Amino acid sequence: MPQADDPSESRQRCVVVTGASSGIGKATAMAFARMGWHVIGTGRDRKRCEEAEADIRAAGTATARLDMLRGDFSEMHEVRRVARDIGALTDKVDVLVNNAGGVRDGFYGTSEGLEATFATNHLAPFLLTRELLPLLERAAGDTPPGLVRVVAVSSSGHRACAGMRWYDLVMKTAFEPGAAYCQAKLANLLYTRELHRRLIDKGIVALAMHPGRVGSNFASHGDQGMQAYMAANECAAPEQPARTIVWLATDPELGGKGGCYFHDLAEEQPAPQALDELQAEKLWIESERILDRVLEPAT
Ligand SMILES: NC(=O)c1ccc[n+]([C@@H]2O[C@H](COP(=O)([O-])OP(=O)(O)OC[C@H]3O[C@@H](n4cnc5c(N)ncnc54)[C@H](OP(=O)(O)O)[C@@H]3O)[C@@H](O)[C@H]2O)c1
Repeated sequence: MPQADDPSESRQRCVVVTGASSGIGKATAMAFARMGWHVIGTGRDRKRCEEAEADIRAAGTATARLDMLRGDFSEMHEVRRVARDIGALTDKVDVLVNNAGGVRDGFYGTSEGLEATFATNHLAPFLLTRELLPLLERAAGDTPPGLVRVVAVSSSGHRACAGMRWYDLVMKTAFEPGAAYCQAKLANLLYTRELHRRLIDKGIVALAMHPGRVGSNFASHGDQGMQAYMAANECAAPEQPARTIVWLATDPELGGKGGCYFHDLAEEQPAPQALDELQAEKLWIESERILDRVLEPAT
């Protein structure tokens, strides 16, 4: 538990949950609202956002606060705009849950010349975390070291990707939806390792998890094969991975576990290619390069 002299105890803690309009993100946002936090949720689809907002609000304590923002995270200028909107709502972020994402049923090019799976699942959390870093650092400034967290929702699907496709990271050629998804989820783990390395001295801890097979809106965005696979197999309720996300976000004992990977309230060993520190650093540099290319300089 936070210590008695923890100044963050005297203020409402703030969590940003991306993809809070549905499934795992919505269950996570509801859990934080039940704990009385200031919850900032993001979503894309207007109707799902409105429904989720009502459900999260209903789950919250009397003192919980909820703000729901919308943006398409396959577009980097939208991610940056949402980050600015978050900055207008709070000056401190204690926890960032990078959850928004999923698989697609084909190649979708974005207005910025990217591919939507890689953009949404990897580049968006990379950029959002970068933009929110000042708010995370401010929260870390009045919190015991290790309690400010960035949690990535990855997937065991990363094991199916032998390594990053450096010659065509944004998958302009030979696109296959499942391969694109697995590469993006490997990227989540490499990114978490490198983020941990870069933030270790700032009192901010980066952790990653995989939710398992979960009954959500996930399959509806995938192709027929994905939909059939999900329909034929037993799925956990979104509340199950949400419990693990809340644990990763709040348990003081996990402050020393930066860069690690978890499932169902326990640490797991990811695939060896997710542990490669040179690849992790290379992904960071390549991601910066792609973002420099697609974004106007920040004003
Ligand atoms: N379900 C599983 O079995 C499973 C397994 C492994 C990993 N995961 C991961 O778990 C995370 C959550 O998925 P879920 O199962 O909860 O699926 P979900 O019910 O489809 O929820 C995904 C959330 O991400 C949002 N999102 C997706 N693409 C977006 C975009 N381009 N811009 C903005 N928001 C976007 C969705 O918004 P909309 O409501 O607008 O669609 C929704 O809020 C994902 O990262 C997924 O890859 C899921």
